[in-house]
Amino acid sequence: MPASDLSLKTTLGPLTLNNPFLLASGPPTASGEQIRRAFRLGWAGAVTKTIVPDTMEILDVSPRFSSWKDEKAGLLGFENIELASKRDVPYWTSEIAAIRKEFPDRVLIASIMAPGDPAEWQDLAGTVQDAGADAIELNVSCPHGMPERGTGAVIGQHPDLVASLTRAVRKAVTVPLIVKLTPGVTDILPVAKAAVDSGADMLAAINTVPCLMGIDLETLEPLPSVAGHSTYGGYSGPAVKPIGLRIVSQIARELPVPALGIGGISCWEDAAEYIAAGASAVQVCTAVMWNGAGIIRDMNAGLSDYLARKHFAGVGELRGRALSRIGTHAALSAGVFSAATIGSPERCTSCGRCVVACRDGGYHAISLADRKVVIDAARCDGCSLCSMVCPEGVIVMRGFPGRGSELHSQGTLP
Ligand SMILES: Cc1cc2nc3c(=O)[nH]c(=O)nc-3n(C[C@H](O)[C@H](O)[C@H](O)COP(=O)(O)O)c2cc1C
Repeated sequence: MPASDLSLKTTLGPLTLNNPFLLASGPPTASGEQIRRAFRLGWAGAVTKTIVPDTMEILDVSPRFSSWKDEKAGLLGFENIELASKRDVPYWTSEIAAIRKEFPDRVLIASIMAPGDPAEWQDLAGTVQDAGADAIELNVSCPHGMPERGTGAVIGQHPDLVASLTRAVRKAVTVPLIVKLTPGVTDILPVAKAAVDSGADMLAAINTVPCLMGIDLETLEPLPSVAGHSTYGGYSGPAVKPIGLRIVSQIARELPVPALGIGGISCWEDAAEYIAAGASAVQVCTAVMWNGAGIIRDMNAGLSDYLARKHFAGVGELRGRALSRIGTHAALSAGVFSAATIGSPERCTSCGRCVVACRDGGYHAISLADRKVVIDAARCDGCSLCSMVCPEGVIVMRGFPGRGSELHSQGTLP
């Protein structure tokens, strides 16, 4: 099927999405104008920057970002210490109402947060619902600034607090309720279950990961440095994708509600991985800040091409397809033994990185003889480190049926 014919239309609980891509709550959804522009570009939905009651003062510091980049300014990780929306509730209610009318086929989710008192969350939830929000996302997961004020991740780290808040808001509104989870817990499942058992219709994961981005070694100022001082912030971007994928797959395996995958999604491949790990749809924040909302064009085209190439009829057929392959460590140990083999000898530059890695990584199975890499199969433990450090892709892992120790003793390895 040509990719252009493949519809990315999908469902998120009772909501219909033109494609699985939503803007996450954050700077890309800081204003109604940005949300409109994103919808025009092709995003299926957006979660507003977190709206707070007008009684809550929001004073951002500057600078409030710090980044970890590769040599070409490609983003690896991003820290922020930004607070919630600085725009007031009347601004948001009028924008939500207007955008709902202008874009009837898009999904607009209101992210909300209030000080600890559930009654304030209930009021705000009722207000954004009346304005026309299609769903409400409870931000119980912001890890910086807000916990000091008794809200955000300080709620999301405690199943009992998540349960009582979710129950309270559930009583106040009828639109779908999403609880956005913090990865800053040892085990996500007690919190996720508490939310679902108390009336959450969906879960969104993850919010940013608590972090300290770095220390400037000349000034010894922690980063981002606000007049010489800093605070713990929220980590996002590509570096957090493995954490998000793990949490989303845990939710999808254990709980009967749709999961919105968030964290480090920069391209269609990242999104496809989240969907294969069980996400019903995905949200993107940092990649839009770094590369612009226009990335949606490549995301839509790439996902559509991929689904067509894999003969999937739509997003739903990909959803959760990797889940049955995630299990216990014990279940893995009896399978196949992977051994390092030389796949493309002509590419080897004799740099010796594999030799060093194998030696100091514990096995001493690789040496250079006449500037050629030689792998001692009897010493190879199949860890795969050499294939990762090789800059030329010379070493590849090959699977052999059976366990490594048996194969070594039978002399079956090449
Ligand atoms: C600068 C910045 C501001 C954010 N503000 C909010 C917010 O107001 N409410 C919220 O729920 N999440 C907020 N987030 C978290 C994102 O929605 C998202 O959960 C997180 O960044 C991980 O996704 P990403 O890697 O695509 O950025 C913010 C993230 C960033 C980087």
